[in-house]
Amino acid sequence: MDFDVIVIGGGPGGYVAAIRAAQLGFKTACVDNFIRDGKYSLGGTCLNVGCIPSKALLQSSENFAELTHSFADHGISCTNPKIDVSKMIERKNGIVSKNANGISFLFKKNKITELHGTGSFSNQADGKWQISINDNGNIQQVNATHVIVATGSSPRSLPKIAIDNKNILDNAGALDLTETPKELCIIGAGVIGLEMGSVWKRLGANVTILEAMDKFLPSADEQVAKEAYKNLVKQGLTIKTGIKIGEISNSSSGVTVKFVEGGENKEQKFDKLMVAIGRVPNTQGLNAEKVGLKIDERGFITVDDDCRTNLSNVWAIGDCVRGPMLAHKASEEGIIVAERIAGQHPHFDFNTIPWVIYTNPEIAWVGKTEQQLKDAGIEYKKGVASFIANGRALGLGNNVGFVKMLACSQTDRILGVHMVGPFVSELISEAVVAMEFMASSEDLARIIHAHPSLSEVTHEAALACDNRQLHG
Ligand code: FAD
Ligand code: NAI
Repeated sequence: MDFDVIVIGGGPGGYVAAIRAAQLGFKTACVDNFIRDGKYSLGGTCLNVGCIPSKALLQSSENFAELTHSFADHGISCTNPKIDVSKMIERKNGIVSKNANGISFLFKKNKITELHGTGSFSNQADGKWQISINDNGNIQQVNATHVIVATGSSPRSLPKIAIDNKNILDNAGALDLTETPKELCIIGAGVIGLEMGSVWKRLGANVTILEAMDKFLPSADEQVAKEAYKNLVKQGLTIKTGIKIGEISNSSSGVTVKFVEGGENKEQKFDKLMVAIGRVPNTQGLNAEKVGLKIDERGFITVDDDCRTNLSNVWAIGDCVRGPMLAHKASEEGIIVAERIAGQHPHFDFNTIPWVIYTNPEIAWVGKTEQQLKDAGIEYKKGVASFIANGRALGLGNNVGFVKMLACSQTDRILGVHMVGPFVSELISEAVVAMEFMASSEDLARIIHAHPSLSEVTHEAALACDNRQLHG
């Protein structure tokens, strides 16, 4: 089979790249090897064991937490509320299947050939790349002028600790527990640790998160990280920082974790242990050495700003290349690569990639943190506005947190926006649009925001940049 473009990997990077390439008129194929419930399933980590299932469980567990903790304030009561964890997992699986089938439907609609198995480079001949596809030992060769590698990432493991997804879990295992563990330990207070810790805490587990770094969420703005930490601890999550993990033993009765805390040797037994210490790129199975595809010492495919590798007509995107491991970053790279293949000149700005952590309160940011501006010697002004008295937040019963806007002292251009509070996953888009359009804080201050709405807090933060906040 001959194609103009073959995409290796069908996650949010790869499948979006394939759709955009097909829209631009290229004869396109996408090969993926993800297997869920014994069947090939498009959507990669994000859809099968990442973004989507975790958000489904975050919502279910949030509903339960509201029912058990805050609905009484609304005058709503119910006796003996229960959570059926298996049903919750079934609902989550239904959402994943629906979306995965949706991608196959989009492939058909766009006349993209869906191939199953592991793709690897076998050769280059007559200006075409030969890609070998191994589907359980059945080998198929396809040829394509352009190759987009979008093979994603896998969980980083701790040396000598075997993930069995029974007692010792990675993200896939933590998304598939059929009952709430009594004692859950999570190694790594990063994005996955905090989100999955929140899910199981809300459903009744005692959750202990052990983090190696002294600082909590070092990539977030310090003020935001402090506010998030305060609230998460208030909800009952135990978060220990500056921890050195020692021996871990797994037995039928649970997992014993030895660790050093503040110079003291400690040992604790848990029902389940989740390891969430970052992710590593999937680049081993590509036969990269055979064709000379350059891979760096950490396993990432080396690319330039336009996602070009060192080989002609071979591109790489998403988690298997530099930059944040985020689904929307992967998708956007997929779009720009397809458009570059078509000779267009799309633009991609790393500085306006939003980050969201779906805890309660949610955390979201775009652009530079206050610490980054200080370190770079950039003079800035800041406006901070709280959700505390916002009418909509009060109505929701969720009025913790704030919005912080940072703008250049000289030009007033917005340099960063940092949020912690209700639905900031949605509010951050306004800040992204503003930054993409190089807006000033005054621009946002002069835009009419609906009342009552959470977005009024962003408005107030913009007003506060010029010391003219109305409700602060
Ligand atoms: P992937 O989604 O990993 O897809 C790569 C695909 O390629 C996989 O299907 C893989 O099996 C396949 N593959 C690998 N090698 C080959 C090969 N040789 N041949 C064929 N196929 C191959 N990001 C967010 O932006 N928001 C979130 O809320 C979010 N939540 C997350 C929650 C969890 C628990 C996890 C683990 C991750 C989360 N992420 C989130 C990160 C997000 O999932 C990744 O950034 C995103 O999936 C990367 O997309 P990708 O297309 O580069 O790779
Ligand atoms: P992470 O990089 O966010 O966090 C890993 C944490 O583990 C860090 O705080 C690190 O210091 C700690 N750590 C590393 N080694 C350790 C050790 N030996 N002992 C104790 N702690 C240790 O990685 P995580 O949480 O695994 O997630 C991977 C990526 O997936 C994220 O970086 C993010 O890009 C993506 N993701 C995004 C989400 C979102 O956008 N909402 C949700 C979940 C994941």
